[in-house]
Amino acid sequence: MKIQDSVALVTGGNRGFGLAVAKELRDRGAKKVYVGVRNPADVDHEGIVPIRLDVSDAESVAAAAERCGDVTLLVNNAGTGRVHLAGTLDPDLVELTRQVLDVNLYGMIRVSQAFVPVIVGNGGGGIVNVISDQAWFARPIIAGYGMSKAAAWNFTNALRMDLRDRGVEVLSLHVGFMDTDLVRDLDVPKSDPRRIAAVTLDGLEEGREEVLADEQTRLVKRTVSTDDGYYLNPPALG
Ligand SMILES: NC(=O)c1ccc[n+]([C@@H]2O[C@H](COP(=O)([O-])OP(=O)(O)OC[C@H]3O[C@@H](n4cnc5c(N)ncnc54)[C@H](OP(=O)(O)O)[C@@H]3O)[C@@H](O)[C@H]2O)c1
Repeated sequence: MKIQDSVALVTGGNRGFGLAVAKELRDRGAKKVYVGVRNPADVDHEGIVPIRLDVSDAESVAAAAERCGDVTLLVNNAGTGRVHLAGTLDPDLVELTRQVLDVNLYGMIRVSQAFVPVIVGNGGGGIVNVISDQAWFARPIIAGYGMSKAAAWNFTNALRMDLRDRGVEVLSLHVGFMDTDLVRDLDVPKSDPRRIAAVTLDGLEEGREEVLADEQTRLVKRTVSTDDGYYLNPPALG
């Protein structure tokens, strides 16, 4: 879809990758860019309109859809993670995974369901779901996060099929580490979120359904079907 003259909403657009996407949308000529955030008073960026949105709260999501009736492009970016040092045997794994799913999966579902009628009512548009390379491999100490991203990928594939004949394009973004607060304590190579935002929006404008934004992500996905798949023996973190 074309970004020029679109009206976009980026969930979790107050910092990190979401803010990078919001700024890139503004700079590419979007008519309006909303960022859906938990604390609108804390957001002050030229050409970006903060609105209150907690993706884990159905009432907040409904109110945002009511308020932003002109949206044609939704970016489901809001995300969270939990570390459970005992890996898959951590006694808190179920509860921590529940918290992560509430944002990364159910939040994505809630916001998509609320905004599809808005986008369709405005003549069609697009949805970008921010996922991860971890849709296709696991890290035990953040297995709950990985599970949420694998599930978000699956949801996105179903959503894309449902919306194909309603004029709404659905793109999933897969990317490895980016330099944001989410992974600030990890000493690993990280991409610049502004570069990944640009690659993502290039993909959207080219009509792509999936963007694999870095070489690591392309390797992970490519080897899912090989005997030495990356997911079978990924390197340890750190
Ligand atoms: N950084 C990476 O290495 C990496 C790699 C692959 C994918 N991703 C994905 O990229 C997306 C953005 O993450 P990031 O790296 O930019 O992380 P981040 O800097 O921690 O930002 C996360 C954003 O999500 C928002 N958020 C969390 N829970 C929310 C809720 N219930 N309602 C509304 N907003 C909520 C946060 O808002 P508050 O400021 O209110 O907390 C913040 O704006 C996530 O989906 C993440 O999984 C990140």
